[in-house]
Amino acid sequence: MNRVQKLITENFDKYHYKNIDEYIEIGGFHALKKAIHNGADYVISQIKLSGLRGRGGAAFPTWKKWHIGHNRKADRKFVFCNADEGEPGTFKDRELLKKDPYKIIEGMTISAFVNGANEGYIYIREEYSYLHDNFREAIEIAENHGYLGKDILNSGFDFSIKVFSGAGAYVCGENSSMIESMEGKAGRPRIKPPRIGEVGYLNKPTLVNNVETLACVTTILKHGAEEYARYGTESSTGTKIISLCGNIKRPGVYEIPFGITLKEIIYDVGGGVEKDGKVKFLQLGGASGAILPRDLLETKYSYEDLDANGFPIGSGSILVADETQSIVKFLEAIEDFFYHESCGKCTPCREGKRQISKILRKISAGEGTMDDLNNIEKIANVMKHASFCGLGQTAPTALLSAIKYFSPELCSNIDGIRVTY
Ligand SMILES: Cc1cc2nc3c(=O)[nH]c(=O)nc-3n(C[C@H](O)[C@H](O)[C@H](O)COP(=O)(O)O)c2cc1C
Ligand code: SF4
Repeated sequence: MNRVQKLITENFDKYHYKNIDEYIEIGGFHALKKAIHNGADYVISQIKLSGLRGRGGAAFPTWKKWHIGHNRKADRKFVFCNADEGEPGTFKDRELLKKDPYKIIEGMTISAFVNGANEGYIYIREEYSYLHDNFREAIEIAENHGYLGKDILNSGFDFSIKVFSGAGAYVCGENSSMIESMEGKAGRPRIKPPRIGEVGYLNKPTLVNNVETLACVTTILKHGAEEYARYGTESSTGTKIISLCGNIKRPGVYEIPFGITLKEIIYDVGGGVEKDGKVKFLQLGGASGAILPRDLLETKYSYEDLDANGFPIGSGSILVADETQSIVKFLEAIEDFFYHESCGKCTPCREGKRQISKILRKISAGEGTMDDLNNIEKIANVMKHASFCGLGQTAPTALLSAIKYFSPELCSNIDGIRVTY
């Protein structure tokens, strides 16, 4: 099977968003027409058959979320596209927004149709401000051509989309913090239950999906669930868009079928390690992901294979670190990021991050003790289990995996202990 596929990314560089006819010529809005013609149950069954799992990080089965949303009764509902993409090392949603905005608009419209919503928002991170106006223009063009607005495709279904700019907080990528920020409050997560699917934006049911998930929905409906599920493995069907970065010869965004190995991704897709160096470790799924040592490079890139070893696919970022990278310095950068991004609402995350960053700086300066190492492991475990939201729960993942796989190197920074490799 080819290492790089063109399924979700099939429209890249094939049309300009100012010319919607070019999108229509390559099969644009075919998926929406199919959805409207066949009805919500058909769409949900296609998504179920495709095996699609949410691409925002949690990998929740998309059909289940839509099924629940579809059956929920309310006088007003919302659908959101989460384009906050705040996970360091992740930039695949940006490419979708830039190179195929109508596929996202189409996916949002299908999502609204199935879930009985008439209003949608796309929450685009502030750092992508250069894309906000393009997206607004694409929405206006789609409206003028009858694909958005009143009585879409003469079906009696009304749907409009508005662009909302994030303000640069990582935690606002979490659904409920996003909604809080949109309601003019501080971007902090809400207590759940109730889930935002029941009580979301303006206290109305709100369905949130990642950009790539919505692009997948459009693709699945256009080509059929069976065609999509032909790619990948039995439990991880289809393809995944990855952001490949770090010490790699060809960094970038690639669409790969699930089931190829990490080694194939690094060497066949990414061209190998920069300056013909050797992989020291990978970090999967962004800053909140685990560190994987090079002796696990034969692991297949699939939910089941990675889960079995405790590694997340998360946002789909794969960061390559070569042998020049220091594990302690790397952890310091990661933990400082989370320390900065902690919203401060709960103690384990707010205080835990502060202490971990402080101790790592001490270890990095060669002044650490074995007690320090034991303490950061304890703090990391408390954060993992007691933090209020996913940010604090996943922030120590890199540290805990480094303790598991790189303890000799961590200990080599501890006073009195010297390890030779
Ligand atoms: C701290 C934090 C940050 C998140 N950031 C993002 C993000 O930038 N983009 C995204 O799609 N999901 C993000 N999520 C996950 C969302 O809360 C949510 O699960 C996702 O948008 C659902 O879409 P999906 O079902 O299509 O994956 C984040 C979660 C947490 C806990
Ligand atoms: S875990 Fe961190 S980001 Fe989440 S609520 Fe607690 S302090 Fe805020």
